[in-house]
Amino acid sequence: MIIELDSISKYYENEGAITRRNVLNEISLAINPGDALSIVGPSGSGKSTLLNILGTLDLPTSGIVKIKGKSIHDFNEKQLAKIRNDNIGFIFQLHHLLPQLNLIENILVPTIPQKDKSLKKSALERAMNLLDSVGLVDKIHQRPGQLSGGECQRAAVVRALINEPDLILADEPTGSLDQDSAEKLGELLSVINKKQNVAMVMVTHSHDLAKKMDKIYKLDHGNLTDY
Ligand SMILES: Nc1ncnc2c1ncn2[C@@H]1O[C@H](COP(=O)(O)OP(=O)(O)OP(=O)(O)O)[C@@H](O)[C@H]1O
Ligand SMILES: [Mg+2]
Repeated sequence: MIIELDSISKYYENEGAITRRNVLNEISLAINPGDALSIVGPSGSGKSTLLNILGTLDLPTSGIVKIKGKSIHDFNEKQLAKIRNDNIGFIFQLHHLLPQLNLIENILVPTIPQKDKSLKKSALERAMNLLDSVGLVDKIHQRPGQLSGGECQRAAVVRALINEPDLILADEPTGSLDQDSAEKLGELLSVINKKQNVAMVMVTHSHDLAKKMDKIYKLDHGNLTDY
């Protein structure tokens, strides 16, 4: 078990109003090694909120989140940041690459906390291998502004993989791409899941993309159900 949500709810108090907005309603979900699932649902249904809670970037209002059997509520923010960095890779709709760094520097950002020189060297080798596998090895000195949208998203995938996570969380990873690039990125994520056994949770509006994962969930009115 990589991550487990035990009956988590999330709500926001509406300021000055008597109503309470329930975004997530007692959701339980377990992510196991190698799982591939996607989450679909209307805009505003809480998909990003759920993904952020899975990634420990946000906390539920109630319920328990566990990483590898340990409740995250027992860790402080610094400990949690390390656990997150070691175990989870994130891919967002917009690549979030740093504009002032070139491609290889961007890829290596998540390895900066690593002090061990030999591990740093192996990270560089891993980065080059991964960049080769996504066809970007000849662009390592270019900055994000000098790359296409699809190339930036592929780079974001490599960055998410650089610390060898057990799990990748992707929020609308193809949202900024044309159909052809979106299809290729979906295929890339599916291959990574199958070949490297990295668990994958993907939020998407696209049913074609959702189908690249093994299981589809639907989020509606705060409830997560099989699609
Ligand atoms: N900090 C906040 N305060 C109040 N309401 C919030 C806050 N953050 C999110 N919400 C509300 O929670 C609901 C779920 O938002 P969320 O971003 O998770 O939806 P989503 O399913 O990812 O939508 P989209 O498909 O448009 O990205 C929305 O109605 C949003 O307005
Ligand atoms: Mg969203």
